[in-house]
Amino acid sequence: MLKERRIVLGVTGGIAAYKAAELVRELVRREAKVRVVMTDHACRFVTPLTFETLSGNPVATDLFQSAGSFEIGHISLAEFAELVVIAPATANIIGKMAAGLADDLLTTLLLATNAPILICPAMNVKMYANDIVTENLARLVSRGHAVLEPGYGELACRAEGQGRLAEVAEIAEEIETILAPKDLRGEHILVTAGPTQEPFDPVRYITNYSSGKMGYALAVVARRRGAAVTIVSGPTELPAPQGVVFVPVKTALEMRDAVMARLEEATVVIKAAAVADYRPAACERTKIKKKDAALTVSLKRNPDIISEAARRKGNRIVVGFSMESDNVLENARAKLMNKGMDFIVANDVTEPGAGFRADTNIIRIIDREGAVETFPLMDKMDVAGVILDRVKKVRDGGRIRDGL
Ligand code: C5P
Repeated sequence: MLKERRIVLGVTGGIAAYKAAELVRELVRREAKVRVVMTDHACRFVTPLTFETLSGNPVATDLFQSAGSFEIGHISLAEFAELVVIAPATANIIGKMAAGLADDLLTTLLLATNAPILICPAMNVKMYANDIVTENLARLVSRGHAVLEPGYGELACRAEGQGRLAEVAEIAEEIETILAPKDLRGEHILVTAGPTQEPFDPVRYITNYSSGKMGYALAVVARRRGAAVTIVSGPTELPAPQGVVFVPVKTALEMRDAVMARLEEATVVIKAAAVADYRPAACERTKIKKKDAALTVSLKRNPDIISEAARRKGNRIVVGFSMESDNVLENARAKLMNKGMDFIVANDVTEPGAGFRADTNIIRIIDREGAVETFPLMDKMDVAGVILDRVKKVRDGGRIRDGL
């Protein structure tokens, strides 16, 4: 979602400068327009040619570049930028910014731009822990700059601790968040995602193929758009989304408890989880031994979480999913009405590109008035976008239904 967004990347002189090359690749992959500015020290670690090649644009290094290079002068870059990212940001640039110095192209540009600024520090653990660095960063935050804290781990100087440049994916996600419109600010969105696991002995369980991708995409996009987000997730292979409250659960009963405990604070509930409808009636304390005879596991119903949440609906917007292999619309409509949802997102698992493990989905949105909107095959991030657009529409329509 960074298509055509104009980003100036300031690279300063730390060993993590080489990771900035990966960041440029990632931003270009997301179709952003990237202009790189390097300090003299940065050029000692990585050559401008690396960034020029990866960004497809000239790299600016010199405040006193001659005429003819006007389009990369500090003022034009300051105006070009919708966002300036400094990665890696050394203690030196952080100190200069806090003091308002302007002694090279990057610092001058930083004073001249109106664009938001994201600082991604990377330095030796003792430097990062130094009080003056802490004070400088606090000062920059108080002026409205964003700081993405460095990670913990082994540093290039072989010390252990906090100081590693944040991961490229993390920086890219922060950029997405800063640049996204904040049309969901004020909402607290509770999302459920993934499968549940229903054990019948200590080593075995019943589950389904849900990957969690749809729920995670909803959490990520909602956070980008300014919502506070809590995700209650069954076991998945996906990393916990950044900047959201992450509540891991295993069983449907745990998911129900986690959802009900957080319902009060939520203004929107989106149930993207593939909750197991049944659980084994008993979970043996020891592993069931293999015998010649067939094994019967008897199952009992799990509670329906979304229906329970809808009973305490208040002004909350409740959205459910319906994954079907036949009679998609009829089944989805019945669930929408029976489970007290505002709208339901239906898909047909038998269609190629739709359903559980794919990165894409083909959905229809059905509302209580009976309207059906059909969407083409889309990436799950874009599907999340249209679902959240619909949430916004319900909210703006001021449609408030009291508990059903
Ligand atoms: O009836 P079905 O399971 O197909 O309904 C799907 C919708 O209901 C999804 O939104 C799912 O997250 C939710 N659900 C639930 N609790 C269950 C089963 C499904 O909240 N036990």
